[in-house]
Amino acid sequence: MAHLTGDDKRRYVAEMFARISPRYDLMNSLMTGGMHHRWKRDTARLTAAGAAGTERGGTDGIGATLDIATGTGDLAFALANCAGVTAVVGVDLLSEMLSIAARRRRVGHRPGDTPITFAQADALQLPFADNTFVGATAGFSLRNMPDVPAAINEMARVVAPGGKVTTLELTPMRPGIPAMMGRLYFHRFVPLMGQLVAGDRAAYTYLPDSVDYFLTADGLAEVYRQAGLVNVGYRRLGLGGVALHYGDKPV
Ligand SMILES: C[S@@+](CC[C@H](N)C(=O)[O-])C[C@H]1O[C@@H](n2cnc3c(N)ncnc32)[C@H](O)[C@@H]1O
Repeated sequence: MAHLTGDDKRRYVAEMFARISPRYDLMNSLMTGGMHHRWKRDTARLTAAGAAGTERGGTDGIGATLDIATGTGDLAFALANCAGVTAVVGVDLLSEMLSIAARRRRVGHRPGDTPITFAQADALQLPFADNTFVGATAGFSLRNMPDVPAAINEMARVVAPGGKVTTLELTPMRPGIPAMMGRLYFHRFVPLMGQLVAGDRAAYTYLPDSVDYFLTADGLAEVYRQAGLVNVGYRRLGLGGVALHYGDKPV
């Protein structure tokens, strides 16, 4: 199903995440041995860093940040914990994922914490004016979008000049022994785990297949540049199977 495009892909992805939403967090922690929390913390810090230089960054805090396709809200919560971030908005297509994010916020939120708003919205048509946020991020979601350049363009549009766009995503590994081990793990073990833990082998077969269909890390960096972002680069994480991309909106 990873070969789907356009509306077919959007429908398939929506149905799949609605099905697996109750076990989504548990599966992430099992698949990555808990490492995804650390990667998301690093991504949030990078997104917030340097935002003080944007036109919207004030002296009493750097401003509001955005997490597109927030799912159950991990990256939104990580952004809220970054020094200087004054507000966080997390958007997702699916009410099933957003209701888990909102429940987590109710349980974990303390008076004085950075406010987090969750809203239903399409990352390809964000309901925000140009230059609204000091930074925008996306975690493990680009692969699921029917139009990756449109998603990066939208993030770049709503970020103020000087602000950062970041994405954390699974990425095809460079050939070698870690890549062979990664393929074995993702194509054999993960679908089995998905079947046993989430009761959904198809969703966790789609996951490794979608990586095979996705852009290389260099290809995604080029999409950033085409969106007008500068200082573009990426770091490989997790034995090279995850990439953290970043770029700045020019001042
Ligand atoms: C793999 S989850 C990632 C969730 C979260 N960002 C994380 O890192 O754990 C992918 C999410 O992307 C959302 N999604 C896919 N296409 C989207 C779109 N066009 N607009 C908004 N959300 C989208 C799905 O609903 C799902 O919650």
